[in-house]
Amino acid sequence: MLKDILEQGQSLADEALERLLPPSTQYPPSIHEAMRHSVFAGGKRLRPILCMEAARMIAGMLPDGVAELGGAIEMLHTYSLIHDDLPALDNDDLRRGRPTCHKAFGEALAILAGDALQTNAYEVMANLRCPAEARVRIIGELAHATGTIDGMIGGQVMDLESEHSTPDLKTVEYIHRSKTGALITASVVTGGLYAGGTPNDIDRLRCFGQSLGLAFQIVDDVLDLTQSSEQLGKTAGKDKSSEKATYPALFGIDESLRKADALVSTAMSQLEAYGTRGDALRTIGHYLAERKK
Ligand code: IPE
Ligand code: IPE
Ligand code: MG
Ligand code: MG
Ligand code: MG
Repeated sequence: MLKDILEQGQSLADEALERLLPPSTQYPPSIHEAMRHSVFAGGKRLRPILCMEAARMIAGMLPDGVAELGGAIEMLHTYSLIHDDLPALDNDDLRRGRPTCHKAFGEALAILAGDALQTNAYEVMANLRCPAEARVRIIGELAHATGTIDGMIGGQVMDLESEHSTPDLKTVEYIHRSKTGALITASVVTGGLYAGGTPNDIDRLRCFGQSLGLAFQIVDDVLDLTQSSEQLGKTAGKDKSSEKATYPALFGIDESLRKADALVSTAMSQLEAYGTRGDALRTIGHYLAERKK
């Protein structure tokens, strides 16, 4: 079941991205090559998969055109990765098993490729094939989730400003919920909005995403310590050398994993209302906690 969900979701996301991104021959070619270099580099596509499976759970079938929304979310995520790797931020050379965007194309194009993926995502969202009211709410959700107030950029700011200091739990939790949890939450919430979910559905998906999103970043921190760069496709051990504010730095690996498991259980409790229709999201939730990359 897990393999099928991941493979089907990855193909749907990849096909959508292929349709939605300009070809690398499009003038001016360098920027489109840089965008494609980072997007088509073997990402897990977890956010589009979460979005599509949330939509399927609410609608009872995969709503027409929801892969476009998944593609837009993956563009936002990839933009955040390109900028996260820049010398001014985490200064990483390896991403998704390839040289980072700035290593392959230079810093100027990497900055612009991140910017372009972001604007492209909103152009795609403006054309989503769902009722206009849902479309506007989806755009608002994703703008907020990637913004400065409890969103991705706010989290990235605190992540950088907390380097080389002894983290306290409140700050680390803020960083994790904002830099990573917010976009994961918005992925399931916007999938629910696309599918015409009720206010109760949206509340449940939001709680599900918040717990799962925090668990996801705790696991990312643990994997940074326990896996190799080859396995991760990104530089292992980077958080320790940069003295990042992480869960394992505060609690150690075992306790961090226990916290991630408890958060996944909390997330699962939000799915009870959906019976077997929640099985795909349950399966993905467990996978996020147990993944090795
Ligand atoms: C990595 O996200 C960055 C974080 C927010 C932790 P993923 O682990 O989903 O990376 P890809 O998309 O599979 O490369
Ligand atoms: C990045 O967190 C979160 C983003 C907003 C991209 P990390 O810095 O831990 O992500 P990785 O480990 O480089 O993928
Ligand atoms: Mg970072
Ligand atoms: Mg990083
Ligand atoms: Mg990390």
